[in-house]
Amino acid sequence: MEINFKNEILRLKKEKNSIILAHYYQRPDIQDIADAVGDSYYLSKIAKDCEENTIVFCGVKFMAESAKILSPKKTVLIPVIEAGCPMADMADADGVRELKRKHPSAKVVCYINSSAEVKAMSDICCTSSNALKIAKNLKEEEIIFLPDRNLGQYISEQIPEKKFILWNGFCITHKKVKPEELTKAKNLHPDILIAAHPECEKSVRDAADFIGSTGEIISFVNKSSNKRFLIATEEGVLHKMKLNDPDKEFYIPGGGMSCINMKKTYLKDVYNCLLNMEYKIELDEDLRQKAFNALSNMHKLGG
Ligand code: 13P
Ligand code: SF4
Repeated sequence: MEINFKNEILRLKKEKNSIILAHYYQRPDIQDIADAVGDSYYLSKIAKDCEENTIVFCGVKFMAESAKILSPKKTVLIPVIEAGCPMADMADADGVRELKRKHPSAKVVCYINSSAEVKAMSDICCTSSNALKIAKNLKEEEIIFLPDRNLGQYISEQIPEKKFILWNGFCITHKKVKPEELTKAKNLHPDILIAAHPECEKSVRDAADFIGSTGEIISFVNKSSNKRFLIATEEGVLHKMKLNDPDKEFYIPGGGMSCINMKKTYLKDVYNCLLNMEYKIELDEDLRQKAFNALSNMHKLGG
């Protein structure tokens, strides 16, 4: 007999006192069975405050790792252990140590898209929704920002009085967007509004009407009275947008924007995850505590 994954997931979820969190880039059927869907910051808040014993994190590894850092007593599971973030893998602890040695008076701000080791070496974390607020609120003039050079450059442009030392990391999915694709859309539909994630390159950000995190882009589109939008971020966000506004028209630059890692999770994986209670995120306690400080500083300063 064929398994009804949706029903089984809902049954197991209750039986195992767990909560399912899903990022906006997840497949629509995963977003539909989740208890909470959101951007990185929103999901990290839920992971920190939820009451369930187990968190099933449908996203990529740094997100599940952040949940474990914030909620060490809970069991944190990721359905697909190979779902990583290539940008997070671009920064390493040795490189951060070297930068800190070269710039001893700088504060280290790391994007949540980073490993626990990198977080442990950082003063404070940020997400795309609070990076600017955090950088502004720091009293230090010098900031080492990693790993995303695009988000770093975007916030540095808005605080010219501070000196930014940027790591040379980037998102392979957002890097694919070309400014010509935005111009083409504007030429075809002069009334179109372009919303872009700050992980896009400068030439793309400069051509956008709105820049924000996934959650902020969804909210911008929902609040706008405009009819057409070009969305320059991973196409998973369209699911929520279409549910919110079925009459609006959505366009994606080029041939589409899909993060292969975010798309690795299927309903079958979530079912197996709950059934077998795997894959568990485990962290060395000393490392976790150091990484916790950076994440907890983000919740204090960037909330
Ligand atoms: P958000 O913080 O906007 O959810 O983005 C996470 C991410 O991985 C973007 O590529
Ligand atoms: Fe990482 Fe980019 Fe995928 Fe976000 S979209 S998880 S930054 S690879």
